[in-house]
Amino acid sequence: MRVRLYQPSDLEALYQLDQSCFPPGVSYSRDEIAQFVAHRRSRTWVAEADGQLVGFLIAFRQPSKAGHIVTLDVAEAWRRRAVGTALMDAAEAWVRGAGAELIYLETAEDNLAAQAFYRKRGYQKVKRIEEYYANRAAAWVMAKRL
Ligand SMILES: CC(C)(COP(=O)(O)OP(=O)(O)OC[C@H]1O[C@@H](n2cnc3c(N)ncnc32)[C@H](O)[C@@H]1OP(=O)(O)O)[C@@H](O)C(=O)NCCC(=O)NCCS
Repeated sequence: MRVRLYQPSDLEALYQLDQSCFPPGVSYSRDEIAQFVAHRRSRTWVAEADGQLVGFLIAFRQPSKAGHIVTLDVAEAWRRRAVGTALMDAAEAWVRGAGAELIYLETAEDNLAAQAFYRKRGYQKVKRIEEYYANRAAAWVMAKRL
């Protein structure tokens, strides 16, 4: 498995993986993903294994100097094999490189796997947002000081 930067030819694979990782109303549309990856403040990494895209992460560096993880997706067959860890390592290093002191993300209230993953990396729940997702599910904002 190796982590590299996103290229435009990855877009459809990102969309398909996001659809497989999240329920309707939490997953993103093709247009949303295309806008995120093209944004001047974002960076996207992909994890590749055997020529397949097995994970990706989109992060933003905000003007306030905080980092924001927009999404982190790992293919089911590749979970618990440190793919998420490798993608988060890359994103946190990029955010830290800009002098950011804080990094945060939102995760669905019922996504206990993601909450355990982020907690292990030092993130803490800071705020609950009701009806955050299009399917009206609540989210936790989780954050970590860098
Ligand atoms: C959450 C997610 C990104 C984790 O990716 P991953 O590649 O499986 O994570 P890693 O293998 O790097 O896990 C690192 C550590 O996090 C914790 N962890 C990861 N998944 C976990 C789970 N399902 N339950 C409990 N702890 C978990 C463990 O401590 C793990 O270390 P260990 O395997 O040595 O015990 C992955 O499960 C995923 O893509 N889920 C669907 C999409 C999603 O929920 N994304 C996050 C949305 S905000």
